[in-house]
Amino acid sequence: MTPSPLVRGPRELRELSRRWRREGALVGLVPTMGALHEGHLSLVRRAREECGRVVVSVFVNPTQFGEGEDFERYPRDLGRDRRLLGEAGCDAVFAPAVEDMYGGGTTDLSSGERVFVDAGRLGEVWEGRERPGHFRGVATVVAMLFNAAEPDRAYFGEKDYQQLKIIQKMARELLFGVEVVPCPTVRDPDGLALSSRNAYLSAEERRAAVALWRALRAAVDLARGGERDARRLERAMEEVCRAEPLVRPQYAAVVDAETLERLRELGGRPARALIAAYVGETRLIDNAALPFP
Ligand code: PAF
Repeated sequence: MTPSPLVRGPRELRELSRRWRREGALVGLVPTMGALHEGHLSLVRRAREECGRVVVSVFVNPTQFGEGEDFERYPRDLGRDRRLLGEAGCDAVFAPAVEDMYGGGTTDLSSGERVFVDAGRLGEVWEGRERPGHFRGVATVVAMLFNAAEPDRAYFGEKDYQQLKIIQKMARELLFGVEVVPCPTVRDPDGLALSSRNAYLSAEERRAAVALWRALRAAVDLARGGERDARRLERAMEEVCRAEPLVRPQYAAVVDAETLERLRELGGRPARALIAAYVGETRLIDNAALPFP
């Protein structure tokens, strides 16, 4: 199978996308940081079904990594990613260098001189609190990708639930005119959500990591059984994690599915269980929809 054709510069991408539109195609964008797995490929397949042309971006975005995080060692293998994308029927891979994206203007990304997109309150809670500046980097690079690709639709996994909510809000409030399409989390048979960071886990940690999913399931089962007290659901999640010595939970929370505000009780509005934990040295996140009456 031929690897998907490569586009390097934002200007080239915009020209390509505009040509596709003139030819009458809907343009679908799947933003990724590469190290592709079945979760990413499910987004590409969904885009393939719904759009005449599909572009996948592969860019490890420096502005969403904090100090001491894994920017340098984040897995990169563009050749493999392009082959997988070729098989999945992707029309083009946008894989810019850091200078292609951040070369215009002040190149010192932490100088305070550059323009960033502020993700607002939604960017400060949960992941935002644990990873200050993370969502500012995500919102900024996604805005840049939207501007370069001018897609009709953009596909994001529910696995990064807070990211999804921020991008939906950004697209709406900054009038991007892009339809943000949420796609279900893809899991291994034992329930572990697929993530490029799972590659960091040792065999023992990989086995322990499934505790995140077991914790979410415990909350879902309790809610299904009629438990409405959000604290009890949170405690149940923590207990499942505590039973696994390699897992150190950072938060296990029951929140409003739109505002991400912590709830006292289920009922009335859709709710979501969020979890973040270290498994060994690797930080993983996951989430699940909670049934509501
Ligand atoms: O989810 C990711 O892989 C990244 O945060 C994204 C959306 C591609 C932005 O860099």
